[in-house]
Amino acid sequence: MCGIIGIAGPEGSDVVPMLVQGLKRLEYRGYDSVGIAVVSDGRIVVRKGAGKIEEVARVKGFPELHGSVGVGHTRWATHGRPSDENAHPHLDCKGRIAVVHNGIIRNYSELRERLESKGHVFVSETDTEVIAHLVEDELRGPESFMEAFRRALARLEGSFAVALLYAAEPRRIFFARMESPLVLGLSSNANYLASDIPAFLDYTDRVIVLRDGEMGWITSSQVYIEDWRSGRSVEASGRLRKIPWTAEMAAKSGYPHFMLKEIYEQPAALRNSFRGLAGDKSLLKAAEIMASADRIFVAAAGTSFHAGLFFDHVLGRLAGRIAYTLVSSEYHRLEGVVGRGDVLLAISQSGETIDTLKAARLALSRGARVVALSNVIDSAIPRESSIAIYTRAGPEIGVAATKTFLTQVLALTMLAARMGVASGHLDEGDAKNIYQALFKASSLVRKTITATEGVVRELADWLAGKHSAYMLSRGIGVPLSMEAALKVKEIAYIHAEAYPAGESKHGPIALVEKEFPVFILSEPGLEEELEGNAAEMKARGAKVIVVSGTGRPSRHLDLQIRVPGAEDFMTPYTHIPPMQLLAYYTAVKLGYDPDKPRNLAKTVTVE
Ligand code: F6R
Repeated sequence: MCGIIGIAGPEGSDVVPMLVQGLKRLEYRGYDSVGIAVVSDGRIVVRKGAGKIEEVARVKGFPELHGSVGVGHTRWATHGRPSDENAHPHLDCKGRIAVVHNGIIRNYSELRERLESKGHVFVSETDTEVIAHLVEDELRGPESFMEAFRRALARLEGSFAVALLYAAEPRRIFFARMESPLVLGLSSNANYLASDIPAFLDYTDRVIVLRDGEMGWITSSQVYIEDWRSGRSVEASGRLRKIPWTAEMAAKSGYPHFMLKEIYEQPAALRNSFRGLAGDKSLLKAAEIMASADRIFVAAAGTSFHAGLFFDHVLGRLAGRIAYTLVSSEYHRLEGVVGRGDVLLAISQSGETIDTLKAARLALSRGARVVALSNVIDSAIPRESSIAIYTRAGPEIGVAATKTFLTQVLALTMLAARMGVASGHLDEGDAKNIYQALFKASSLVRKTITATEGVVRELADWLAGKHSAYMLSRGIGVPLSMEAALKVKEIAYIHAEAYPAGESKHGPIALVEKEFPVFILSEPGLEEELEGNAAEMKARGAKVIVVSGTGRPSRHLDLQIRVPGAEDFMTPYTHIPPMQLLAYYTAVKLGYDPDKPRNLAKTVTVE
């Protein structure tokens, strides 16, 4: 979705280069247009346009702007095509209020109509512009800007994170949040706000995560927060947290892309995750609650959904239970089903995916308990859940989830093992063995990358010439093949579909012809059945590539991506890295930017 940044620097400073830097850090949230606004000599000056940051900054002359207080925006279009007019910031009629916004104003047509009938002139097709005019409309006489802003907020329906400049109060940036993420960053001589922490991580690691219904303002030295519905001010210092992320973690550090860096970071992320989770009281508590739950539901989207499906498999294996796993945008299905005695596991690396948040809220409202698994401390989903577990993978900037997937899978395996113990399905000795195996996940990934990168690079050259591919597996490998297919689809724009291998005979095989790419993710104990499926594909001319940890040669395959041998619940660490690398190198071969796949945004905060 869109990315917002605001910087209130000390008088005389120039925040424009920092705004541009922050926008570059936010580009992964959306990137069809970009803009900034500063207050200069009591006037608001805006520069904006459609295109990527570097290009828009050059063409529209960002470096010519100077100001010590400013806001910036990188857009992922919802209302109105990407264009110079639709790029943020948006202004009111007099050009005294500038707004940047992430989210959707659902009642914007109605508001726009009403404002137009009162003489307000709109220049864009966006829902955002109504905010500027609405606040302008509410500004009356000597009243403070906050009063008008508060009244305007009460009229907005939808999800939003907004930052506003007001020419008459040039030292302040006003903000509000409802269902879209917004974080404040505090430092000794300047204050920041942004959609996501990496935007200001170069300058501070002291953050306050805003909650729904909060509004306020920052200057270079002050922070004010209140709940606009109750009018009560919020004690900001009690919410201040130092986050364990560094600017380096959010930088490319010499890698050509964040995605490659993050694939390579997986051993370190898994190590960190394991260390943190091994003695984590929240994980133990969650396991106890879940082990005694009547039913377990899982809600998640995209890659996190695949982690959820994986959890369902390990849960059966380690705790003898089954989970009902659903794509979180289908959360309505929980209505009338989930209730007291149940637990919903909400998995979201960002902790802000709106559908997953809604699923969690629905479950809570029906008396169920919610366990959150997230990578972002204090984000909406963990904050609203009954109990939160954190993956500790560090910031993930590439749009495609990589290291966060493997750390989710690690955390979920630990959770399933602890549930197994809590329900008497496993004893402590079994759990210890599982933990010992998981401890090696980090080195397994390192060995796998070393062993497979060369062959995968060559394979990518071939896959780049294809339009379609199948990813097949069985058992625990099925969610892994779904994840592999998603990576290839989203980064390399090649149609890739995953199926339980046995299901491929029930229709999908009809597409197979000469040289059709079929990837088989082999699973220990299921090799024979998978070999049968490989043979069926091969017989129809497919090119069959098998990711496998056994040295057993097969007549039915064209290529083996040989990975270290591992038990089934450890195969994410051997089977996923080569598939991530395959997607990455195929995208690069085709000339695409894997960090910024078209039409995608890292955090999906609109339904
Ligand atoms: C895929 C990807 C997305 C996310 C999905 C959920 O590589 O990144 O499919 O997995 O948008 O996001 P979170 O986990 O933040 O809820």
